[in-house]
Amino acid sequence: MGNWKLNGSKTMVAELIKALKVPATECPTVAVAICPPVLFLGQAQTLLADSAIILGAQDASLNTEGAYTGENSARMYSEFDVQYVLVGHSERRTLHQEDDALVAEKFAVIQQAGLTPVLCIGETNEQFEAKETQAVVERQLQAVIDKCGITALNKAVIAYEPVWAIGTGKTATPEIAQQVHADIRAFLANSDAEIANKVQILYGGSVKGASAAGLFAMPDIDGALVGGAALNADEFAAIIQAGA
Ligand code: G3P
Repeated sequence: MGNWKLNGSKTMVAELIKALKVPATECPTVAVAICPPVLFLGQAQTLLADSAIILGAQDASLNTEGAYTGENSARMYSEFDVQYVLVGHSERRTLHQEDDALVAEKFAVIQQAGLTPVLCIGETNEQFEAKETQAVVERQLQAVIDKCGITALNKAVIAYEPVWAIGTGKTATPEIAQQVHADIRAFLANSDAEIANKVQILYGGSVKGASAAGLFAMPDIDGALVGGAALNADEFAAIIQAGA
């Protein structure tokens, strides 16, 4: 899954989607999704009409319609064939002070709109150094479980994104990422073993073509949430091919 963040132009959207259709077609067993800025969802929807590449959005308002200037409605995303919506990305948790409770509320709104939330969790460098990773991701998960119930994870994706690896070029080693993913599954299994086993857990944080295969070889890493490399057709193609 490519999180384009605040990047793109009409030309770039056209060129990148054209390029990504090739690896997506060559690797039919790999689910490929892109999350462009909302301004490009219409163009992307048209360009993807003949492709299995799935559209996602990067955030959603707590509100579906009304006097909420500048916000983007999960319900309206459906008109653009959007299926996934990122929620709780660390850049929203930090830059927009989105706390666990707000993330859980947005998670519920996204599901009520019939879309699949991609719940982003992860620790800061300070928390990693203090060996607080598991406590942090469990706290972030518990907020959603408390609000929506464990069964809500039947229609959701989890993305573990250590904040210290986002945009830094420092990818978590496959072993470090695998341990956190396994701990996440063990935590969820306390509530529902079947859901814990089934839920997709993506890794995000400086994933590149060269590091993808090692990450995907881990038993509890089901895919990647990619930032910078998603904007480069060759890099993202290499990540797709690593998943085949
Ligand atoms: O949501 C994915 C993103 O946060 C990861 O960014 O640039 O480290 O791949 P990047």
